[in-house]
Amino acid sequence: MVMTDNVRASQREFRFDLATYLAERQAQVEAALDRSLPVIYPEKIYEAMRYSLMAGGKRLRPILCLATCELTGGTVEMAMPTACALEMIHTMSLIHDDLPAMDDDDYRRGKLTNHKVFGEDVAILAGDGLLAYAFEHVAIATQNVPADRLLKVVAMLGRAVGAAGLVGGQVVDLDCEGKTDVSLETLNFIHNHKTAALLEASVISGAVLFGASEEDLQRLSRYAQNIGLAFQIIDDILDITATQEELGKTAGKDLQAQKATYPSIWGLEESRRQAERLVDGAKAELTVFGEKAVPLVALAEFITARTH
Ligand code: IPE
Ligand code: IPE
Ligand code: MG
Ligand code: MG
Ligand code: MG
Repeated sequence: MVMTDNVRASQREFRFDLATYLAERQAQVEAALDRSLPVIYPEKIYEAMRYSLMAGGKRLRPILCLATCELTGGTVEMAMPTACALEMIHTMSLIHDDLPAMDDDDYRRGKLTNHKVFGEDVAILAGDGLLAYAFEHVAIATQNVPADRLLKVVAMLGRAVGAAGLVGGQVVDLDCEGKTDVSLETLNFIHNHKTAALLEASVISGAVLFGASEEDLQRLSRYAQNIGLAFQIIDDILDITATQEELGKTAGKDLQAQKATYPSIWGLEESRRQAERLVDGAKAELTVFGEKAVPLVALAEFITARTH
């Protein structure tokens, strides 16, 4: 009887509920973001930055960063400034992605886009402000991390968002608009750079902060590249299959703008299969971490299961 109770108790201990985990982590990240950026003079720019930063969103990048820091032995506290910086960088990319000169979108995270509320001039500056503040915040607010590791993280964030990463991907994405002969190689370049690069930095930075081994970093890198590409494939699929209410952004925009997407080359079903294959590949990289990797396994599954 006592034995059975013990077994039940240990099973309970290991049961992992993704919804609860995500809700707890989202709440922690929201609170840290809120504290990180008070409104001071000139209020207009801080309000524009906060408008998009505090508009919700899945907070996937910060949550991945916190998860890998914990997986490798670190704490939530040591990774939180980097986690917030990742969300600031991501939010900048969304504000700029939505501008009339780029995807020209009116809705984001269930609200009017930044430029619709504050004007294009302030929206551009709000993105700039968030990008710059992300680096300042990592450098100033991180505690109990040796300077050499912090320097690595700063360099990694710069590379992920710059021309070697997100910016490079966005340029080719825009270049390919309206083209009907985009190769799979070019499409993979776009997705790997505009989306997977920052997701990879999210996963790796958490592990670098705690000083994970080179072997673990490489394993986590492969996990991240797989979920990064899968994430954008699912984003492309949802643009076709989900509603504006579910997405918080206008649906059907990719077809309208003649974007190069996975569904446009492979169709919906094959695209979904590809995403599932990538997520399986990502999960396979985590087996050596055992029970500790349960959150990262669940986060990989969430990428293909998500509806927004
Ligand atoms: C949207 O990112 C842009 C892409 C890289 C596909 P998310 O789907 O993570 O957006 P939020 O942060 O939840 O709003
Ligand atoms: C996302 O590409 C890339 C970045 C924002 C860097 P999309 O243009 O597909 O993102 P959504 O669909 O507008 O969120
Ligand atoms: Mg875009
Ligand atoms: Mg867009
Ligand atoms: Mg999209």
